[in-house]
Amino acid sequence: MTVHFIGAGPGAPDLLTLRGRDRIAGSPVCLYAGSLVPQALLDHCPPGARIVNTAPLSLDAIIAEIAAADAAGQDVARLHSGDLSIWSAMGEQLRRLRALDIPFTITPGVPAFAAAAAALEAELTLPGLTQSVVLTRTPGRASTMPPAERLTTFATTGATLAIHLSIHALDRVVADLLPAYGPECPVAIVWRASWPDERIVRATLATIAAAAADGPERTALILVGPVLAADDFVESSLYAPGYDRRFRPPSATSPFSESKA
Ligand SMILES: C[S@@+](CC[C@H](N)C(=O)[O-])C[C@H]1O[C@@H](n2cnc3c(N)ncnc32)[C@H](O)[C@@H]1O
Repeated sequence: MTVHFIGAGPGAPDLLTLRGRDRIAGSPVCLYAGSLVPQALLDHCPPGARIVNTAPLSLDAIIAEIAAADAAGQDVARLHSGDLSIWSAMGEQLRRLRALDIPFTITPGVPAFAAAAAALEAELTLPGLTQSVVLTRTPGRASTMPPAERLTTFATTGATLAIHLSIHALDRVVADLLPAYGPECPVAIVWRASWPDERIVRATLATIAAAAADGPERTALILVGPVLAADDFVESSLYAPGYDRRFRPPSATSPFSESKA
């Protein structure tokens, strides 16, 4: 018996990996985080599967479900939205499973920030502008932030920010970022990226609060940074004619040139 943790992707059912699909299909038990995992993914469950929405359950109740499947020798597909490496609550489940000696696998998924960037038709790292993306959030009811991980601190880097779980605190986000990024800094909000009701608002730090005033207060990513409106960035050297790469025929002076070996 094995518990298969599976990143369910951002919403569109065809943004599930093939491995994720196959692991769902091979598991007679499916536990899914109901609020953000698309119901269509449950169609991959085998006939007669036990399918449980874990949104209303405690960690103890979830582990009890897994322990029951373990006793019955049944594999479990455990679905969380997006990828499992960020804000999935997988860590605490893995710790319990290790303690119980229950084996598991982990199948990554498409994270929401990548789906939002795709919706915006944006590369979040552009040469000469920024080479870093900060995946962060603001404090929530159930989650405090470590003191060093303030938006005001990240803002000093000028990196692209992908701010999760914070649409309800948009005014606070803007206030924290204005001093470092300035009022003209581009901002985009993507609600429910890749779902049929996906919505995008583009504005600046000065105008985003008004532009997004009628938007829902959940399932949105706030992206901030100059890359969102940049057109005058330099081209990357990766595809420049004079740049030797491992997979392109090298010039005589290249470090990859066989003639130098
Ligand atoms: C609990 S976190 C889960 C993140 C997820 N593990 C991931 O890899 O993206 C939920 C937050 O992710 C963001 N999110 C998740 N799905 C989204 C989507 N389809 N569009 C926009 N934001 C999304 C929102 O900020 C939401 O509040």
